Amino acid sequence: MNEPIEPAFKTNPNKDYLRRGYDKPIIRGWYSAAGRHLDYLGLPGPDMLDIVEWQEFLHRFTAIERRENEQHLLFLRANVKDVEHRLHSLYGEFDKILLTGRDRYDHTPRWPYDLVNLDYFGGLIYQDLARPKALNKLIQNQDEYKRSFLLIITNDLRDGDFVGEKFSFFDELGRRLVRDSGKEETILKAIDRFKASSTPDAARQTVYTNVLLRDCGESAHFRVKCRPAIVYAGTGGTKMVHYVTEFHHSPRGYRAVSEQSLIQIVNLGYRELRDGQLVESDAIPRIN
Ligand SMILES: C[S@@+](CC[C@H](N)C(=O)[O-])C[C@H]1O[C@@H](n2cnc3c(N)ncnc32)[C@H](O)[C@@H]1O
Repeated sequence: MNEPIEPAFKTNPNKDYLRRGYDKPIIRGWYSAAGRHLDYLGLPGPDMLDIVEWQEFLHRFTAIERRENEQHLLFLRANVKDVEHRLHSLYGEFDKILLTGRDRYDHTPRWPYDLVNLDYFGGLIYQDLARPKALNKLIQNQDEYKRSFLLIITNDLRDGDFVGEKFSFFDELGRRLVRDSGKEETILKAIDRFKASSTPDAARQTVYTNVLLRDCGESAHFRVKCRPAIVYAGTGGTKMVHYVTEFHHSPRGYRAVSEQSLIQIVNLGYRELRDGQLVESDAIPRIN
Protein backbone atom coordinates (compact mmCIF):
# COMPACT_ATOMS: atom_id res chain seq x y z
CA MET A 1 0.00 0.00 0.00
CA ASN A 2 1.44 3.36 -0.99
CA GLU A 3 0.69 6.63 0.78
CA PRO A 4 -1.50 8.96 -1.29
CA ILE A 5 0.55 11.29 -3.45
CA GLU A 6 0.66 14.63 -1.68
CA PRO A 7 0.33 18.10 -3.20
CA ALA A 8 3.55 20.06 -3.83
CA PHE A 9 5.11 21.35 -0.61
CA LYS A 10 4.35 24.92 0.45
CA THR A 11 6.08 26.44 3.42
CA ASN A 12 4.25 28.10 6.33
CA PRO A 13 5.21 30.42 9.22
CA ASN A 14 5.81 27.58 11.72
CA LYS A 15 8.09 25.78 9.32
CA ASP A 16 9.94 29.02 8.56
CA TYR A 17 10.42 29.60 12.29
CA LEU A 18 11.81 26.08 12.83
CA ARG A 19 14.22 26.30 9.91
CA ARG A 20 15.57 29.71 10.90
CA GLY A 21 14.93 30.21 14.61
CA TYR A 22 15.33 26.68 15.95
CA ASP A 23 17.42 24.48 13.62
CA LYS A 24 19.81 27.11 12.37
CA PRO A 25 21.51 27.94 15.72
CA ILE A 26 21.96 24.20 16.38
CA ILE A 27 23.47 23.71 12.90
CA ARG A 28 25.72 26.71 13.47
CA GLY A 29 26.99 25.08 16.68
CA TRP A 30 27.58 21.78 14.88
CA TYR A 31 29.47 23.57 12.10
CA SER A 32 31.67 25.44 14.62
CA ALA A 33 32.44 22.23 16.51
CA ALA A 34 33.29 20.41 13.25
CA GLY A 35 35.52 23.30 12.17
CA ARG A 36 34.51 22.91 8.51
CA HIS A 37 31.53 23.13 6.18
CA LEU A 38 28.98 20.35 6.48
CA ASP A 39 27.92 17.72 3.95
CA TYR A 40 24.12 17.60 3.72
CA LEU A 41 21.74 14.78 2.79
CA GLY A 42 18.04 15.52 2.77
CA LEU A 43 14.72 16.25 1.13
CA PRO A 44 14.98 19.95 0.38
CA GLY A 45 12.04 20.10 -2.04
CA PRO A 46 12.14 22.21 -5.20
CA ASP A 47 12.60 25.53 -3.38
CA MET A 48 15.50 24.20 -1.32
CA LEU A 49 14.49 26.54 1.50
CA ASP A 50 16.54 24.62 4.08
CA ILE A 51 19.69 24.56 1.92
CA VAL A 52 19.29 28.26 1.14
CA GLU A 53 18.74 29.13 4.84
CA TRP A 54 21.72 27.07 6.05
CA GLN A 55 23.92 27.61 3.04
CA GLU A 56 26.70 29.42 4.92
CA PHE A 57 27.36 26.21 6.89
CA LEU A 58 27.13 23.74 4.01
CA HIS A 59 29.69 22.22 1.67
CA ARG A 60 28.04 19.78 -0.75
CA PHE A 61 24.45 18.55 -0.68
CA THR A 62 22.65 15.42 -1.76
CA ALA A 63 18.97 16.05 -2.45
CA ILE A 64 16.48 13.17 -2.53
CA GLU A 65 13.21 13.75 -4.40
CA ARG A 66 10.52 11.30 -5.49
CA ARG A 67 8.53 13.60 -7.78
CA GLU A 68 9.97 14.08 -11.21
CA ASN A 69 8.54 17.53 -11.66
CA GLU A 70 9.92 18.71 -8.30
CA GLN A 71 13.33 17.33 -9.14
CA HIS A 72 13.39 19.29 -12.34
CA LEU A 73 12.45 22.49 -10.45
CA LEU A 74 15.13 21.74 -7.89
CA PHE A 75 17.81 21.75 -10.60
CA LEU A 76 16.48 25.03 -11.96
CA ARG A 77 16.53 26.59 -8.51
CA ALA A 78 20.09 25.32 -7.88
CA ASN A 79 21.11 26.86 -11.16
CA VAL A 80 19.57 30.22 -10.32
CA LYS A 81 21.18 30.17 -6.86
CA ASP A 82 24.51 29.23 -8.47
CA VAL A 83 24.94 26.12 -6.34
CA GLU A 84 24.37 23.51 -9.05
CA HIS A 85 28.01 22.34 -8.88
CA ARG A 86 27.49 21.45 -5.17
CA LEU A 87 24.23 19.59 -5.77
CA HIS A 88 24.09 15.83 -6.08
CA SER A 89 20.63 14.54 -6.75
CA LEU A 90 18.97 11.19 -6.06
CA TYR A 91 15.59 10.18 -7.35
CA GLY A 92 13.06 7.95 -5.55
CA GLU A 93 11.62 7.15 -2.11
CA PHE A 94 14.11 8.12 0.57
CA ASP A 95 13.51 5.02 2.71
CA LYS A 96 14.24 2.72 -0.25
CA ILE A 97 17.35 4.70 -1.13
CA LEU A 98 18.65 4.50 2.44
CA LEU A 99 17.84 0.80 2.73
CA THR A 100 19.21 -0.35 -0.61
CA GLY A 101 21.91 2.28 -1.02
CA ARG A 102 20.71 3.06 -4.59
CA ASP A 103 18.20 5.37 -6.21
CA ARG A 104 15.91 4.62 -9.16
CA TYR A 105 18.80 5.23 -11.58
CA ASP A 106 21.28 3.18 -9.56
CA HIS A 107 23.00 6.27 -8.20
CA THR A 108 24.34 6.05 -4.65
CA PRO A 109 24.49 8.56 -1.78
CA ARG A 110 27.96 10.00 -1.22
CA TRP A 111 28.61 8.84 2.32
CA PRO A 112 29.24 10.12 4.91
CA TYR A 113 27.17 13.18 5.86
CA ASP A 114 27.29 15.70 8.71
CA LEU A 115 23.72 16.92 8.49
CA VAL A 116 20.73 14.80 7.47
CA ASN A 117 17.36 16.51 7.06
CA LEU A 118 14.50 14.05 6.52
CA ASP A 119 11.53 16.28 6.10
CA TYR A 120 8.61 14.47 4.52
CA PHE A 121 4.88 13.90 4.38
CA GLY A 122 3.55 10.77 6.08
CA GLY A 123 4.37 9.12 9.37
CA LEU A 124 7.29 7.21 10.80
CA ILE A 125 5.83 3.83 11.64
CA TYR A 126 3.52 3.25 8.71
CA GLN A 127 3.47 -0.02 6.74
CA ASP A 128 6.15 -2.59 7.46
CA LEU A 129 8.43 -0.42 9.61
CA ALA A 130 10.36 0.46 6.44
CA ARG A 131 11.13 3.92 7.81
CA PRO A 132 12.54 2.85 11.19
CA LYS A 133 14.62 0.27 9.28
CA ALA A 134 15.80 2.96 6.86
CA LEU A 135 16.84 5.20 9.76
CA ASN A 136 18.73 2.32 11.33
CA LYS A 137 20.57 1.71 8.04
CA LEU A 138 21.44 5.39 7.74
CA ILE A 139 22.93 5.35 11.24
CA GLN A 140 24.90 2.16 10.50
CA ASN A 141 26.29 3.71 7.31
CA GLN A 142 27.47 6.74 9.25
CA ASP A 143 29.17 4.36 11.71
CA GLU A 144 31.10 2.73 8.87
CA TYR A 145 32.65 6.12 8.17
CA LYS A 146 32.92 6.95 11.90
CA ARG A 147 31.19 10.26 11.18
CA SER A 148 29.24 12.13 13.84
CA PHE A 149 26.13 13.81 12.47
CA LEU A 150 23.08 15.87 13.21
CA LEU A 151 19.78 14.26 12.24
CA ILE A 152 16.67 16.37 11.71
CA ILE A 153 13.39 14.57 11.17
CA THR A 154 10.05 16.18 10.43
CA ASN A 155 7.01 14.04 9.76
CA ASP A 156 3.29 13.78 10.08
CA LEU A 157 1.86 13.01 13.52
CA ARG A 158 -0.61 10.64 11.90
CA ASP A 159 1.53 7.56 11.69
CA GLY A 160 -0.53 4.66 10.32
CA ASP A 161 0.36 2.42 13.28
CA PHE A 162 -2.21 -0.22 12.36
CA VAL A 163 -0.54 -3.15 14.08
CA GLY A 164 -0.18 -1.52 17.52
CA GLU A 165 3.59 -1.16 17.23
CA LYS A 166 3.65 1.64 19.81
CA PHE A 167 1.67 -0.35 22.38
CA SER A 168 4.10 -3.29 22.27
CA PHE A 169 6.92 -0.76 22.37
CA PHE A 170 5.57 0.73 25.64
CA ASP A 171 5.25 -2.73 27.23
CA GLU A 172 8.89 -3.44 26.41
CA LEU A 173 9.96 0.05 27.49
CA GLY A 174 8.26 -0.55 30.85
CA ARG A 175 10.22 -3.80 31.34
CA ARG A 176 13.49 -2.05 30.48
CA LEU A 177 12.84 0.86 32.82
CA VAL A 178 11.89 -1.45 35.70
CA ARG A 179 15.08 -3.46 35.10
CA ASP A 180 17.18 -0.27 35.08
CA SER A 181 15.58 1.58 37.98
CA GLY A 182 13.71 -0.97 40.04
CA LYS A 183 10.86 1.56 40.57
CA GLU A 184 8.25 -0.91 39.41
CA GLU A 185 5.09 0.77 40.66
CA THR A 186 5.92 4.27 39.39
CA ILE A 187 7.07 2.98 36.00
CA LEU A 188 4.08 0.74 35.38
CA LYS A 189 1.70 3.57 36.29
CA ALA A 190 3.44 5.87 33.80
CA ILE A 191 3.33 3.18 31.08
CA ASP A 192 -0.43 2.79 31.69
CA ARG A 193 -0.84 6.54 31.32
CA PHE A 194 1.11 6.51 28.06
CA LYS A 195 -1.17 3.79 26.70
CA ALA A 196 -4.41 5.47 27.81
CA SER A 197 -6.64 6.79 25.02
CA SER A 198 -6.89 10.13 26.87
CA THR A 199 -3.13 10.69 26.36
CA PRO A 200 -2.42 12.46 23.06
CA ASP A 201 -0.75 10.22 20.51
CA ALA A 202 1.99 12.86 20.21
CA ALA A 203 3.20 11.82 23.69
CA ARG A 204 3.56 8.18 22.56
CA GLN A 205 5.04 8.98 19.22
CA THR A 206 7.74 11.33 20.50
CA VAL A 207 8.95 8.82 23.10
CA TYR A 208 8.87 6.05 20.48
CA THR A 209 10.99 8.05 18.05
CA ASN A 210 13.53 9.36 20.56
CA VAL A 211 14.04 5.90 22.09
CA LEU A 212 14.35 4.38 18.60
CA LEU A 213 17.02 6.93 17.63
CA ARG A 214 18.92 6.37 20.85
CA ASP A 215 18.83 2.57 20.56
CA CYS A 216 19.89 2.53 16.90
CA GLY A 217 22.60 5.11 17.63
CA GLU A 218 24.08 3.38 20.65
CA SER A 219 24.31 0.02 18.90
CA ALA A 220 26.14 1.74 16.03
CA HIS A 221 28.68 3.39 18.39
CA PHE A 222 27.06 6.81 18.70
CA ARG A 223 26.37 8.67 21.92
CA VAL A 224 22.98 10.17 21.20
CA LYS A 225 21.62 13.47 22.45
CA CYS A 226 17.86 13.81 21.99
CA ARG A 227 15.78 16.96 22.37
CA PRO A 228 12.12 17.43 23.24
CA ALA A 229 10.16 17.03 20.01
CA ILE A 230 8.26 20.01 18.62
CA VAL A 231 4.66 19.60 17.51
CA TYR A 232 3.20 22.21 15.16
CA ALA A 233 0.52 22.83 12.58
CA GLY A 234 1.95 22.54 9.08
CA THR A 235 0.50 23.73 5.79
CA GLY A 236 -3.25 23.11 5.66
CA GLY A 237 -3.34 22.49 9.44
CA THR A 238 -1.65 19.06 9.23
CA LYS A 239 -0.09 18.24 12.62
CA MET A 240 3.64 17.74 12.21
CA VAL A 241 6.42 16.74 14.59
CA HIS A 242 10.04 17.85 14.45
CA TYR A 243 13.15 16.26 16.06
CA VAL A 244 16.76 17.41 16.13
CA THR A 245 19.13 14.74 17.40
CA GLU A 246 22.92 14.63 17.80
CA PHE A 247 24.90 11.47 17.02
CA HIS A 248 28.44 11.62 18.42
CA HIS A 249 30.64 8.82 17.16
CA SER A 250 32.27 7.00 20.01
CA PRO A 251 34.17 3.98 18.67
CA ARG A 252 35.29 2.40 21.97
CA GLY A 253 33.43 -0.66 23.19
CA TYR A 254 30.67 -2.85 21.86
CA ARG A 255 27.98 -0.22 22.31
CA ALA A 256 28.08 3.50 23.05
CA VAL A 257 26.55 4.88 26.24
CA SER A 258 24.72 8.20 25.95
CA GLU A 259 24.75 10.81 28.71
CA GLN A 260 20.95 10.95 28.88
CA SER A 261 19.36 8.06 30.76
CA LEU A 262 16.35 6.24 29.33
CA ILE A 263 14.11 7.92 31.93
CA GLN A 264 15.43 11.33 30.88
CA ILE A 265 14.59 10.52 27.26
CA VAL A 266 11.05 9.53 28.22
CA ASN A 267 10.66 12.70 30.26
CA LEU A 268 11.80 14.97 27.39
CA GLY A 269 8.27 14.87 26.02
CA TYR A 270 7.36 17.47 23.46
CA ARG A 271 6.66 21.17 23.11
CA GLU A 272 4.08 22.88 20.95
CA LEU A 273 4.96 25.68 18.59
CA ARG A 274 2.30 28.39 18.65
CA ASP A 275 2.74 31.86 17.17
CA GLY A 276 6.51 31.61 17.27
CA GLN A 277 6.55 30.45 20.93
CA LEU A 278 7.51 27.00 22.18
CA VAL A 279 5.00 25.96 24.81
CA GLU A 280 5.61 23.01 27.16
CA SER A 281 2.85 20.40 26.83
CA ASP A 282 1.27 19.43 30.15
CA ALA A 283 -0.44 16.33 28.74
CA ILE A 284 2.71 14.20 28.92
CA PRO A 285 3.04 11.41 31.48
CA ARG A 286 6.31 11.81 33.38
CA ILE A 287 8.32 9.42 35.50
CA ASN A 288 9.45 10.94 38.80
C1 LIG B 1 8.44 18.96 3.11
S1 LIG B 1 9.24 19.14 1.58
C2 LIG B 1 10.82 19.74 2.02
C3 LIG B 1 10.86 21.08 2.68
C4 LIG B 1 12.23 21.65 2.94
N1 LIG B 1 13.10 20.72 3.65
C5 LIG B 1 12.13 22.96 3.69
O1 LIG B 1 12.82 23.14 4.72
O2 LIG B 1 11.36 23.80 3.27
C6 LIG B 1 9.59 17.47 1.19
C7 LIG B 1 10.04 17.21 -0.24
O3 LIG B 1 10.46 15.86 -0.33
C8 LIG B 1 9.65 15.13 -1.25
N2 LIG B 1 9.28 13.88 -0.56
C9 LIG B 1 8.31 13.71 0.37
N3 LIG B 1 8.27 12.44 0.80
C10 LIG B 1 9.27 11.79 0.15
C11 LIG B 1 9.75 10.46 0.17
N4 LIG B 1 9.17 9.54 0.92
N5 LIG B 1 10.81 10.15 -0.61
C12 LIG B 1 11.39 11.09 -1.42
N6 LIG B 1 10.96 12.37 -1.50
C13 LIG B 1 9.92 12.72 -0.73
C14 LIG B 1 8.44 15.99 -1.57
O4 LIG B 1 8.04 15.83 -2.94
C15 LIG B 1 8.94 17.40 -1.27
O5 LIG B 1 9.46 18.02 -2.43
